[in-house]
Amino acid sequence: MCGIFGYKGKGDAVAILTKWLQRLEYRGYDSAGVCVVNDDNVMYRERAVGKVAELSSKLQQHKDRSYTRGIAHTRWATHGGVTESNTHPHQSNDGKRTIVHNGIVENYSKLKKELEKKWYEFHSETDTEVVANLLQEHYDSNTANMLETAQILQKLIRWAYALLIMHSDHPDEMIAIRLWSPLVYATNTAWEQFFSSDTQALAGYAQQMTYLEDGDLLHIQGDTYTIYANGEVTKRNIEDFDQEALEASKGDYKHFMLKEIYEQPVTVKRTMQWRVNFDTMSLHADTFHGMGNEDYKKIVTVACGTMHHVWWLWTYRLQNLAWVPAYAEIGSEYENKPFFVDPSVLHMFLSQSGETADTLETLKMVKEQWGKTLGIVNVVWSSIARETDNGLYVRAGTEIGVASTKAFITPSVLMLLTSLFLGKRRGMRLTKYQQIMRELQHLPAYIETVLDQSDHIRSIAMDLIQYEDFFFLGRGYQYPIAAENSLKFKEITYLHSEAYAAGELKHGSLALIDEKFPTIYNLPHDEMYEANLSNFQEIKARKGKICVIWDKRVEEADRQITIPETIDEIYPFLTAVAGQLLAYHVADLLWNDIDKPRNLAKSVTVK
Ligand code: F6R
Repeated sequence: MCGIFGYKGKGDAVAILTKWLQRLEYRGYDSAGVCVVNDDNVMYRERAVGKVAELSSKLQQHKDRSYTRGIAHTRWATHGGVTESNTHPHQSNDGKRTIVHNGIVENYSKLKKELEKKWYEFHSETDTEVVANLLQEHYDSNTANMLETAQILQKLIRWAYALLIMHSDHPDEMIAIRLWSPLVYATNTAWEQFFSSDTQALAGYAQQMTYLEDGDLLHIQGDTYTIYANGEVTKRNIEDFDQEALEASKGDYKHFMLKEIYEQPVTVKRTMQWRVNFDTMSLHADTFHGMGNEDYKKIVTVACGTMHHVWWLWTYRLQNLAWVPAYAEIGSEYENKPFFVDPSVLHMFLSQSGETADTLETLKMVKEQWGKTLGIVNVVWSSIARETDNGLYVRAGTEIGVASTKAFITPSVLMLLTSLFLGKRRGMRLTKYQQIMRELQHLPAYIETVLDQSDHIRSIAMDLIQYEDFFFLGRGYQYPIAAENSLKFKEITYLHSEAYAAGELKHGSLALIDEKFPTIYNLPHDEMYEANLSNFQEIKARKGKICVIWDKRVEEADRQITIPETIDEIYPFLTAVAGQLLAYHVADLLWNDIDKPRNLAKSVTVK
């Protein structure tokens, strides 16, 4: 989703800002722009629709490299189409204020109407241009105070935002404000100052950093800065910046997504490392802090998209293995229900990026009611990690492919470990516990076996590309996986797919089945196998084509992907990896932009 960056120092602002834009390209965007200023206060703005490369080639034609400060943005369209005029940075009517913005100003249309009555003109459809003009409208030329104007602005606009503001009458100043959209301020010993919505961009530049909190305003004046909260000067923690520069490389893989699918045996090991001792078949209790309270009467999990499927799967396990009532809620929906928070309920928030607006907003609502919260995130120090009472890191490593793969499997492993942890405390049968531990130890090897079938899965994909509609079916543990495989399939192949609980098909949707509507059926030999076979026959009776993912061959299937034989709790990892490969190969055969699928962003920071 949108990325914002700011730079003030002595270096080549165009080169530095472009580098950061490139580093965060993987997060998904549709246009990009920069605005830079030199020491003589000469300003240069450039914007382009499409990849950062389009912007770079425009910037290269402009030979002047004297610019030493500036702001930049990658846009993921929300208000207004993908056009150059909607691309950030935006300027006020008098051209003096230039801003970049992440998030959505919810009350922008009312504010816009008021400005239009005062003869302001708008050159874009964005909420951001309204903000730029509000700054012009409320700037008092007698006091000429950039800070005061920004503080007025904070009272006028309704969340969410992270904003960077430059003003041509105040060349040595820069202002950042944030509310519910991530923003970090960083410095180094060369007196350079940086802003970014993602710390990843700053690796190799920053030495110290400060996470701005909701409602903060940071004002740079020369080489110094001041942070204000509610109009009062405040202090925030300064931390050492210790991230390695991530110059992502695909290695020999055609796409990052494929590389990340193949990394899963290693990332699964990493997730289990320190938490599990396979020699003694034990779990290290101190690595599950926040989960130790046995008194939780209910666990509610909140997440979006792929991460919701992790939770959904986990609720089955939690109820089966640890007898804790658990409910998986969708971030964007939970806030619309009346929900009650009490000390016996644990709310858990799962997010790869740790910045998803729908999840974060629900977290804040739970906290407002003093609810107990626990976060499971991949990105260290992300907003959800910082806002929750306790948390566990997934340790999947950076995921570049926008469609999540290893960031699905690794939290699923972590959640199985927590089910075992809670289950053991609640009297889970030792034989069951040991059986799962033994199979978990083999999981990386099992995943390797599925990966070895990539060529075979590609041959199935060649057959499938002739169809346009697909069902993905599963029962019990396999139902959330069918939903995940279906999501992965549609987001990168752009083909229509629907996930169903296998038993539910006969309650209406079977009407769609014919020889042109194939089914991908997760059908391992688990507890649900017999029940699944009757659904299998219902589809066959209607001439439906079936591709099965299973561990034992059944002759009537049209296509088969074979996974290793294991136990019910472990099969979901294997059917999921098979589903990832199937989606990948179909998308690749269709020549889709797999690492940056259309209309999907790596970090969804808008509602
Ligand atoms: C799909 C995908 C999305 C994310 C969802 C939540 O492959 O990645 O569905 O899972 O947008 O994102 P996070 O995990 O960052 O909260």
